Amino acid sequence: MTEHEIDEVTGQQTTGHEWDGIKELNSPIPRWWLYTFYVTIAWGIAFMIAMPSIPLVNDYTKGVLGYSQRAAVRADIEEARADQSAFRDRIEQSSLEEIRDIPDLFDFAVAGGKSAFSVNCSQCHGAGGAGAPGFPNLNDDAWIWGGKPAEILDTIRVGIRSDHPDTRFNQMPAFLADELLTREEVSNVVEYVLKISDQSHERDAAARGQTVFREQCSSCHQESGKGNRELGAPNLADAIWLYGGSRDEIRRTVSLARNGVMPAWEDKLDEVTRKQLATYVHALGGGE
Ligand code: HEC
Ligand code: HEC
Repeated sequence: MTEHEIDEVTGQQTTGHEWDGIKELNSPIPRWWLYTFYVTIAWGIAFMIAMPSIPLVNDYTKGVLGYSQRAAVRADIEEARADQSAFRDRIEQSSLEEIRDIPDLFDFAVAGGKSAFSVNCSQCHGAGGAGAPGFPNLNDDAWIWGGKPAEILDTIRVGIRSDHPDTRFNQMPAFLADELLTREEVSNVVEYVLKISDQSHERDAAARGQTVFREQCSSCHQESGKGNRELGAPNLADAIWLYGGSRDEIRRTVSLARNGVMPAWEDKLDEVTRKQLATYVHALGGGE
């Protein structure tokens, strides 16, 4: 086998490698491949000159374009902040009704309200405001203190039984613990509450309980039991319960009282955020 054998069929040199009589031609690599290879080298050198690339001991080569991702992100954030502050200014100056009527402002308020809700409110009211025993559902149309935008905004600002001087406040007595009613009177009035909420009840006891209700409960819950928003007294004649509508739960509420606390947010969240929250809560589905 010679060093530079020429293949008879193609007239090309072989590499000298041979397997079972099959020889390998020494063909050059295609031109297009070679040129692409040169282009990548040129690109690499140009990139190294133009952009930050070579690490030095305490620094790095900045490149003639001086580009920096950090600076680019900072600029993006500035821009987003400027966009937001325009929206925030508009929210500050608009009433809740105006916010609801202007689509881009409304979308901005709901998005901001949603994220503020998941940070500040969802621990108690659940993700999406679905509520939990003792913490009202905010997306149904049963409201204890009111479901109009301004009422929701005010509840958020001052809280309920909170330490805010203007807090929404009312205290249901603990009828058994404070000895305002006997055990039997409590049982009777519980049967009456079961009756007006359309649940199975003992008829005679409920009839006796009606008198107790009129004397002890109607000042807050009204004669009909449908509640009173001025006083934050919930409707007892529907199927929606804050603490539970079973015989045992109602007996517990009447005997010991509950008096849940909702914190005030005036000092913790600025007005724009509170307006966004009120818009979001109102838009959850139960707003009036
Ligand atoms: C520590 C628990 C807690 C947190 C946190 C909380 N809430 Fe409440 N919230 C309550 C309780 C308890 C009530 C019901 C009080 C009552 O009337 O018995 C309530 C009631 C409300 C009501 C009145 C509902 C009605 O039917 O009238 C609104 C509106 C409300 N919360 C919105 C919010 C928003 C918005 C946030 C977040 C900024 C928030 N809450 C954070 C506990 C909480
Ligand atoms: C001074 C006003 C007041 C009086 C009087 C009062 N309540 Fe209430 N009641 C409330 C308030 C306010 C709440 C809800 C707030 C809370 O406790 O967190 C409530 C809640 C309830 C609940 C819980 C409702 C639910 O959705 O879980 C029941 C049941 C109830 N009251 C029954 C009675 C009965 C029965 C009487 C009379 C024996 C009575 N209340 C008297 C103010 C009153």
